[in-house]
Amino acid sequence: MRDASPTTIYLKDHTPFGYIVDSVHLTFDLVPHATRVTSRIAFRPNPDAEDKTFFLHGEELKLIRTAIDGQEVTPELTDKGLTCPVPDAPFTWEAEVEIDPGNNTALEGLYMSNGMYCTQCEAEGFRKITYYPDRPDVMSTFSVRINGPHPVLLSNGNPTGSGDGWAEWTDPWPKPAYLFALVAGELVAHSDRFTTRSGRDVALNLYVRPGDEGKCAFGMEALKKSMTWDEDVYGREYDLDVFNIVAVDDFNMGAMENKGLNIFNSSAVLASPETSTDANFERIEAIIAHEYFHNWTGNRITCRDWFQLCLKEGLTVFRDAQFTSDMRSASVKRIHDVIDLRARQFPEDQGPLSHPVRPESFQEINNFYTATVYEKGAEVIGMLKRLVGDEPYAKALDLYFDRHDGQACTIEDWLQVFEDATTRDLSQFKRWYSQAGTPRVKVEEDWADGTYTLTLSQSTAPTPGQSEKQPQVIPVAVGLLGPNGDEVLGTQMLELTKESQSYTFDGLAAKPVPSILRGFSAPVVIDRDTTPAERAFLLAHDTDPFNRWEAGRALAQDTLLRMITEDAAPNADYLDGLLAVLRDDSLDPAYRALMLGLPTQSELAAALHERGTTPDPMAIWTAVETLRQATAQHMQDLLPRLHGQSLIDAPYRPDAEQSGKRALGSAALALISRLDGGAQAAGEYARADNMTLQLSALSCLLKSGKGETELAAFYDQWQHDRLVIDKWFGLQIALAAPDKTPGLTKTLTEHADFNWKNPNRFRAVMGALAMNHAGFHHESGAGYELLADWLIRLDPVNPQTTARMCTAFQTWKRYDADRQDLIRAQLMRILAQLDLSRDSREMLERIKAA
Ligand code: ARG
Ligand code: ZN
Repeated sequence: MRDASPTTIYLKDHTPFGYIVDSVHLTFDLVPHATRVTSRIAFRPNPDAEDKTFFLHGEELKLIRTAIDGQEVTPELTDKGLTCPVPDAPFTWEAEVEIDPGNNTALEGLYMSNGMYCTQCEAEGFRKITYYPDRPDVMSTFSVRINGPHPVLLSNGNPTGSGDGWAEWTDPWPKPAYLFALVAGELVAHSDRFTTRSGRDVALNLYVRPGDEGKCAFGMEALKKSMTWDEDVYGREYDLDVFNIVAVDDFNMGAMENKGLNIFNSSAVLASPETSTDANFERIEAIIAHEYFHNWTGNRITCRDWFQLCLKEGLTVFRDAQFTSDMRSASVKRIHDVIDLRARQFPEDQGPLSHPVRPESFQEINNFYTATVYEKGAEVIGMLKRLVGDEPYAKALDLYFDRHDGQACTIEDWLQVFEDATTRDLSQFKRWYSQAGTPRVKVEEDWADGTYTLTLSQSTAPTPGQSEKQPQVIPVAVGLLGPNGDEVLGTQMLELTKESQSYTFDGLAAKPVPSILRGFSAPVVIDRDTTPAERAFLLAHDTDPFNRWEAGRALAQDTLLRMITEDAAPNADYLDGLLAVLRDDSLDPAYRALMLGLPTQSELAAALHERGTTPDPMAIWTAVETLRQATAQHMQDLLPRLHGQSLIDAPYRPDAEQSGKRALGSAALALISRLDGGAQAAGEYARADNMTLQLSALSCLLKSGKGETELAAFYDQWQHDRLVIDKWFGLQIALAAPDKTPGLTKTLTEHADFNWKNPNRFRAVMGALAMNHAGFHHESGAGYELLADWLIRLDPVNPQTTARMCTAFQTWKRYDADRQDLIRAQLMRILAQLDLSRDSREMLERIKAA
């Protein structure tokens, strides 16, 4: 981990491993500070490999004994692994190592969380468990024996024996080591069963700590729905006798798709109406689905090397988005995903961390589990489906599963399947995998003699390491509306492949209004000079739900930018258009709630920066507050009716219908609170019987400068529940006034419950600080300094979570010279830490190079 001269790994250097692994047997003797891991591995020379160096990865291992075919050997050790002369024929390798899970705070490999043992091996954690060719193209069956005094002892595959103090597991499906998992502890199961469509009876278990039994039912239902959906939509069945999920409090990410034994951050699986918001439920349903879907897209077909990460992640995100669209509302899901893409992926793609969906080099692979690989990776698959069509997509996927089951594959394999199934040439499309940056598409229009012409031109700004960009294949879904608001041309898919292309539409009676990039058909930015009146027209009439929302969003952004740069008053087209949409009871409440949203302050900063204006975080904050106030006043009469939506006369259900109503009601309550100073919210807080409404009322109170009593009562009520206390920390910081934010955050880091070694708690506090745009960027620099203090403190303990949090600084070049100086000083201060992890060093060096 500590690395003076980190090496860079290149995609072009990939060569196969010199040996094939036929089987792995592992024995674990679990002791907190001295766990013994004994491995017996059957190797044979790989006829397809030239390089026969026998190198096994291994880090932070105490080697006790090694033998080849029963004869003790003495390998050559480095801090990265070992080499050893081996026979030019099949042989059995044995090794015994000792590890210290009790002191593993990095949460990678085998570690302990609240007395329970668990593992996280993706991407390169298995090498901290034993010596092994820890690379995804080395696949093998595994059998595991666990010796330990715990009532629950789990590993991958099927249970094949157990007794007092031991259990054995056998996984018949060959897998790479990153999918290995082990769990041991005092856990209780919430159990169910599922019968696959070919009749396999599968035992389902969700293991949790005693006390959390009441938070399992929703996750279990989500799992069963996912299993059914993957059979119905992709024809994919589950392939073991058991499917286990374990909830863990200390976890660096959301969840992990280990074969037959998914391990989840407890925040990504535990839910109850009293302790979880509607948004939590929706996220949990999506993550359960995501990890389950990996069983085919990730596990049965895995990645040849980590450069191909998007092969499994982009596809699996795409699949879980399809699932959510089917379970809930497709247009609401699409809007959520685009909001998320713009908030997380666009800043990455447009800043110093920009990298292709398939990167070509890295120092620390953990730094590449990014919004670009995941979310843009999913967008690329969505475009592919849009270009080839639904039927050919299904055909290509069948071929993919057929041809590559049991293999470790590349993006080339993936695209080949589409070429073979559709006879389409995808060589230009492939640039989506190799070119970084967000393409911009400029739209120009012409109207003459009844012919309407749209000219689309694409360009992508240079990104680190890529100064020249080639044109990409961009599917642009377009519809045309007539002057009376009727659609005169339904959605057409224009394929932009050149730098600039024109498309003509004849036979129109009048100049139409174009609705461009319907459904957000490509992850690009549209540049088009247009008037607020035209946006308001689309907001009123567009038949494409996404673009209708988009028109409102763009109108909001236009007015905010003008308020910031020209001191303009809130635009009446926006306020009137919004009012009309919100009044329309035929529209889904969830959709109307989204209409009430505004671009984030960080997005506004980016938009100003693009227009050559240096963003002033305080001016942005003020404009948003002013527009919110004006919106509240403008809608005053409608608000009580909208708020009434959240008062549902039925038992709580976290489904799309009820959560949409609560979202709209809560958004209305936030506006009402701007008019009545939080009076109504106080009553709502007292009445709330679910976390969604409780938290929304508390937010309104805090935002109104009130709620001190409620905040204290909330803490007392939920003191025993870590996930709720995470919310308690995060909410206060998120809603703090800019000048109070750094100070309040500092005070909260002194709170007895600030367990900073717990990633969820660290993120609840430091993530909220970084997200409070005007507070984090307070001119004193106190926000920057506080974050840097804590990054320095966390880095030696947990490099992965530290490195991820460094992204808070990725946009630093947008801001004024004074702020840049303040941030640069903090970047330098962190980088001056001699022992800084490879993870954080790589991130900070890239950010600094902006
Ligand atoms: N494969 C997991 C998931 O997407 C995430 C693993 C993240 N690993 C990491 N080192 N950041 O479902
Ligand atoms: Zn995944």
